[in-house]
Amino acid sequence: MQEKLIDGKAIARKIKTELKEEIEELKAQGITPGLTAVLVGDDPASHIYVNNKAKACKKTGINGEVIKLPKETKAEELAKIIAELNARDDVHGILIQSPLPKHIDELGMILNVDPLKDVDGFHPMNIGYMLLGSPIFLACTPFGVIRILDDIGVDPKGKKVVILGRGNIVGKPLAAMMMQKWEGCNATVTVCHTGTSNIIDETKQADIIVAAMGMPKFVTGDMIKEGAVVIDVGVNRVDDPSKKKGYYLCGDVDFDSCLEKVSKITPVPGGVGPITIAMLLYNTVRAAKLKLVNQQ
Ligand code: GUN
Repeated sequence: MQEKLIDGKAIARKIKTELKEEIEELKAQGITPGLTAVLVGDDPASHIYVNNKAKACKKTGINGEVIKLPKETKAEELAKIIAELNARDDVHGILIQSPLPKHIDELGMILNVDPLKDVDGFHPMNIGYMLLGSPIFLACTPFGVIRILDDIGVDPKGKKVVILGRGNIVGKPLAAMMMQKWEGCNATVTVCHTGTSNIIDETKQADIIVAAMGMPKFVTGDMIKEGAVVIDVGVNRVDDPSKKKGYYLCGDVDFDSCLEKVSKITPVPGGVGPITIAMLLYNTVRAAKLKLVNQQ
């Protein structure tokens, strides 16, 4: 069992150790990478995510800042705060935690972020560069999936990758990355979604399955082929009165029924999550370096 388990925390630690060295070098040149996360509203999961990001910054030597705003914040107020962050020399990365309250148009708001500080890789300009094969920043979760595959020695080149879910944060950008002629990508990609008529026909052929559709334990053992690599991006809260918190966390994969068949699998929690944060720190360091290069 242990040899099948992908230890996301260990991979994240490795990435952060590499980053610490780069951060020290930047500090020696008078630059401390800075990341500001903006959180609007009181979504409890978002608060946990943002606090985890800030903690990870601190541990690696990045200046992490969190701006928490009430859910009634107007779009114009948020746009003004983003403009101020764009102008600040000590802020290299800006992250607007998703989801925003319903009265704020998320895509419209991301347009306000300086693309060279868009460490989430969500700005349409960054999506465009990525799609064209010349990325500035890669979105953190799909980037993390690529990094995991590299770390466990699985090269997607020529393999069939099936992505479940076509969301803007994971499914769509991951599909666009996986089909690129890049090292660690170059796969044959299929994206399944609510319009797919028979998902199991696709998943059964997959060498690599990435589940990112937000449905608890959707992928079961009978849906996958022997030896498949399964990456579970889902984080679902399932109500359970027997638990202290009243819920438990699970992924989009039914871990227990898949375990026997897979060659490798990520757990939830402790799989993709910690690596996503590590890639955010990576992008922040990259943003700081970009600024340094642009100043020279
Ligand atoms: N909400 C869920 N995932 C993410 C992410 O990667 N970035 C941001 N900004 N919000 C999110």
